Amino acid sequence: MKFFVDTAEIDAIAELNDLGMVDGVTTNPSLILKSGRDILEVTREICDLVDGPVSAEVVATEAEAMIAEGRKLAQIADNIAVKVPLTWDGLKACKVLSGEGNMVNVTLCFSANQAILAAKAGATFISPFIGRLDDINTDGMDLIADIRTIYDNYGFETQILAASIRTVNHITESARIGADVITAPPAVIKAMASHPLTDKGLATFLADWEKTGQKIL
Ligand code: E4P
Repeated sequence: MKFFVDTAEIDAIAELNDLGMVDGVTTNPSLILKSGRDILEVTREICDLVDGPVSAEVVATEAEAMIAEGRKLAQIADNIAVKVPLTWDGLKACKVLSGEGNMVNVTLCFSANQAILAAKAGATFISPFIGRLDDINTDGMDLIADIRTIYDNYGFETQILAASIRTVNHITESARIGADVITAPPAVIKAMASHPLTDKGLATFLADWEKTGQKIL
């Protein structure tokens, strides 16, 4: 399973990258806003830092303008994945941009039918948004499972990039179902290391060690 980090914060990406936890990065207009950075500058910095795909999202809504924006974003670095929304125009842009040899991440996917269309349009990645489905009382994991089944039924090569991940359980479930990639905020990836029994066990070990009066160094 590949790990993408869902942020445009350079320091957070660098920390996880140093641990070998970063196979790629996803950004979106909201994350660029949160970073306070210029999209072209910060995306270039991320691409310099990370070897894997770095998703940068177009903001036009009509195919021709999306294609123009996508071509500009793709010039930032060889590891750019142009991110387009799952609209009819987005699918047109996906077809053209992927046909030109670019990686394309089709985002804002909320149904299996949308995922089928993205695969047929040549998407490198399809991004089903788990958390936002959970927000409207729909099980986002069911969508990941449906897409996995359908893509396997027909040998679609588009990679399932489980997105809008809010909890560590979303990551466990995505891994169990067989999502190819997860993208999660740095805090959620770091939370995977936590377990209350680890904390409790460590506290006991340290208390007992103190009683031995010994030192290792
Ligand atoms: C993925 O590419 C998106 O940037 C992201 O996962 C959206 O997550 P959110 O629903 O928590 O904003």
